Amino acid sequence: MAQKPEALRIGVLHGPNLNLLGRREPESYGLEELEAINQHLSTRAAEFGVAIDFYQSNIEGELVDWIQQAPTRFDGLLVNAAGYTHTSVAIRDALKAVRLPFAEVHLTNVYSREPFRHHSYLSDIAVGLVVGFGGDSYILALDGLVAYLRHR
Ligand code: DQA
Repeated sequence: MAQKPEALRIGVLHGPNLNLLGRREPESYGLEELEAINQHLSTRAAEFGVAIDFYQSNIEGELVDWIQQAPTRFDGLLVNAAGYTHTSVAIRDALKAVRLPFAEVHLTNVYSREPFRHHSYLSDIAVGLVVGFGGDSYILALDGLVAYLRHR
């Protein structure tokens, strides 16, 4: 009898200040809290039959540690490195080191904001990017990443 294929495992990384969603600059980031975004992602992942897990930290080194451990736990990642997107060589290096496919996610359209947000240390090594759709950016990125992982 054919073996049931193992479910894909997706890790979601939320960077600094995303724990404040719902209270933080709602005119930019909306009123949806991080927990609600994670809930929506869990629902979508269940529809796809993929496993999903979440991590948020405000500390660059903790994000790097989580990425380093990701290959034993996940097949692909959704990464919103928040402010570290625009500054962190260390997070870029960690993502390059583990060679896991990842999608870069931003709630806001970073390209319509301040010029310092137009540069990302992650975009050129990501499978794809989703920006500007609020919490739905994560859902769209999950759809894209799952399709990518299933078709590669
Ligand atoms: C963000 C955009 C970043 O520029 C900013 O520093 C964030 C959130 C977003 O999801 O829109 O903290 O990553």
